[in-house]
Amino acid sequence: MVKKNTCVFISGQGSNLKNLIMRSRDDSFPINIRLIISNNKKAYGINYAKKFKIPYIFIDTSYLNYENKVFLNLKKYKISFICLAGYMKIISSNLIRNFNKKIINVHPSLLPKFKGLNTFSRMLKNKEIKGGCTVHYVDEKLDSGRPIVQKSFFIKINDNKFDLKKKTQKLEYTAFPEAIIKIFRNY
Ligand code: GAR
Repeated sequence: MVKKNTCVFISGQGSNLKNLIMRSRDDSFPINIRLIISNNKKAYGINYAKKFKIPYIFIDTSYLNYENKVFLNLKKYKISFICLAGYMKIISSNLIRNFNKKIINVHPSLLPKFKGLNTFSRMLKNKEIKGGCTVHYVDEKLDSGRPIVQKSFFIKINDNKFDLKKKTQKLEYTAFPEAIIKIFRNY
């Protein structure tokens, strides 16, 4: 199997990145992580790039032409697939059009519910019964692309937002790899 050269975008902890790196070491997993892009110099996730010797770059999205650096590097590492793993910036239409149906994102809610930020506090405020995560294609509208895998759990009466985050991320660690396998199963 020829693995897809993949770039992972991060902004913070990088626990999903770490999980994807571990999974991609398996010969039968369809992707190889060739590049990591962070918009945050202090992102803890960069340590995984260093530890596993994966090239990484920082981008400063406040620069008008920051995307030139993104495109140059995607080309340099022959990237054909992009995973957004806790990347907290909006991806430009230009990048989405260039990587049509080849960008996926993990979101900590059962989309279409709770798009955007602060999902856990909004869920608690709304007295939701279920929480979960969604891995979906990225299109030009925020958190709106077609879902690939969704996983849910029942919220307990005493759960706070930290509990919700922990339970959600536990599901993300199976949902994200599962979505990638599902996408490439027929290749
Ligand atoms: C993940 O839980 C992901 O669902 C969320 O950020 C977290 C990143 O964790 N993404 C979003 O909220 C995107 N809107 P990680 O850096 O430890 O993988």
